[in-house]
Amino acid sequence: MTGRFRTRLHRGERIVWEQIRSRVAVLEREEWGQAAFSEPELARQFLASNAVNVLLYDGTRLVGFACSAPSRGGARTTYLWNILIARRYRGRGLVSKLMNTLEPQLRRQGYRFLGMDARVDNGFADAVARHYGPRVTVAGSDHPSDYGIQRPLRIALLRPASRAARGVREEGRKRATA
Ligand SMILES: CC(C)(COP(=O)(O)OP(=O)(O)OC[C@H]1O[C@@H](n2cnc3c(N)ncnc32)[C@H](O)[C@@H]1OP(=O)(O)O)[C@@H](O)C(=O)NCCC(=O)NCCS
Repeated sequence: MTGRFRTRLHRGERIVWEQIRSRVAVLEREEWGQAAFSEPELARQFLASNAVNVLLYDGTRLVGFACSAPSRGGARTTYLWNILIARRYRGRGLVSKLMNTLEPQLRRQGYRFLGMDARVDNGFADAVARHYGPRVTVAGSDHPSDYGIQRPLRIALLRPASRAARGVREEGRKRATA
């Protein structure tokens, strides 16, 4: 039931940021309260040099986002600074909408790896490991942060062509079992 949702790529365009920033801040505060990133901090993430962000909409309503920009780990690695789905939209597989838009774009821009510090307490670090299987490596020890215990992970990004080939294979399998 994810057909009504749409993603939009945001590569740090300020004009788009001006339209979304208060809604992004609301979503951030709903989750994190006092520990939420402030609007200027969010602006630094969304408008960072070489930022690749994905916005998720239910109609015209922004209901999630993923925010990436290079941080550390060499020229071919970028970093997921923030990923969030509005509370009432969780548990419907919408993370995949964000990541399936983000990943091929990162690869097209020449990145091979996506780093992240994934939250442990809400099961996200484990969910990422389950989802990416051998493509994910644990890049360090679990560590405390203002956002709870985090686990440094590194995901090997698939070439867009391999994603297409995988899609064809999965489609073939569906037909074969229909
Ligand atoms: C973490 C958060 C984004 C997850 O959102 P959600 O709507 O509950 O997640 P979904 O229903 O889309 O996805 C969970 C499933 O997606 C899968 N998944 C994980 N990473 C994925 C990815 N990158 N791409 C596709 N699927 C992925 C997992 O397999 C998981 O399934 P499983 O638990 O059955 O194995 C949401 O809880 C949230 O916004 N939390 C607050 C902010 C936060 O903690 N962000 C993470 C900081 S590291």
